[in-house]
Amino acid sequence: MTIKTLYISAGGGFEHVTTGITRPVEPAAGEITVRLHASSLNFHDYLVVSGVTGPTEQRIPMSDGAGEVTALGAGVTEFAVGDRVVSTFFPDWLDGEAPADGFSRVPGDGIDGYAREQVTARATAFTHAPRGWSHAEAATLTTAGLTAWRALMEDGALQPGQVVLVQGSGGVSVFALQLAKLAGARVIATSSSDAKLERLRALGADEVINYRQDPQWGVTAQRLTGGRGVDHVLDVGGPDTLEQSMLACRVGGHVSLIGVLTGVDARIPLALALARQLRLQGLVVGNRRQQQDMVRALDAGSLRPVIDRHFALDDLVAAFRHQESGSHFGKIVLDL
Ligand SMILES: NC(=O)c1ccc[n+]([C@@H]2O[C@H](COP(=O)([O-])OP(=O)(O)OC[C@H]3O[C@@H](n4cnc5c(N)ncnc54)[C@H](OP(=O)(O)O)[C@@H]3O)[C@@H](O)[C@H]2O)c1
Repeated sequence: MTIKTLYISAGGGFEHVTTGITRPVEPAAGEITVRLHASSLNFHDYLVVSGVTGPTEQRIPMSDGAGEVTALGAGVTEFAVGDRVVSTFFPDWLDGEAPADGFSRVPGDGIDGYAREQVTARATAFTHAPRGWSHAEAATLTTAGLTAWRALMEDGALQPGQVVLVQGSGGVSVFALQLAKLAGARVIATSSSDAKLERLRALGADEVINYRQDPQWGVTAQRLTGGRGVDHVLDVGGPDTLEQSMLACRVGGHVSLIGVLTGVDARIPLALALARQLRLQGLVVGNRRQQQDMVRALDAGSLRPVIDRHFALDDLVAAFRHQESGSHFGKIVLDL
């Protein structure tokens, strides 16, 4: 048996994506073999595969993977053959403080990822998927889902009735909107497109702002809260959005520094940060225990991720081109 596998050459670049095969590996003690059925695209995968932050050596791309357990190594008791599972972003960060090794142990970046039909890995590199979810749905959780979960539930300790601001209609932001509504929060959503704003409203957004038409959208958001300001902002834009994110906040508000969609070097208006006594919290996804907590919450609720489009494994570059166009709403999925 052979396993269809995609590779990206050292340095990356869409023209350097190739298809190959790997051989199956029997699971050693503590490992599981997973027949992967889906992955999902993230901006981070785009940066790696397009070559902006290409890998230092040939790499199997994609951080997210979901599928079914087909074999167990000795000593694995957490999973059974047939279980539906989803990968974790940091296979070695199980709980507690974040590791200090950046992306060097992240699948699809520092180590091989999930653009393949099968993988054998340590059991702790996966968690159970939410009950009843498709593999495609589960594959949206590893990066986008857990980032939104951690920003709101862990770092933010979100309370019912608080106000959350989400930016744009990409994977992280749509998840954050859905999770915030699940938790009883009020949500202000922004987008560059009025049509997408209608879809965000249909998903539960209480107020919407077109950030293209209203460059002072942070001030508008604060006004929409009666002048108090929002409790949590998930900032995915970076340099072009940070100041408005801070202006949207209440005194003591929380800004999750998540995204770099407009660049990596941002100016921080210190007087504003001090006067509003803001908490600016950088984060990179989350750990396995947080993913388990999220899956438990999803098992208890009715949230289902928003999938924009499915692409076949061979069409990975077309999928990234679609993401690059910015026309998507929610998650783009790769069927394996
Ligand atoms: N720190 C972490 O752990 C972590 C985890 C996941 C992702 N991220 C980062 O978060 C960002 C979003 O990731 P994603 O996977 O959700 O991306 P994505 O699905 O590609 O989202 C892109 C969407 O963001 C919106 N957008 C673009 N520029 C914007 C701006 N200036 N202001 C507001 N919205 C803007 C657009 O929505 P509209 O079309 O509606 O305007 C666009 O469609 C990326 O920078 C990614 O690297 C960080």
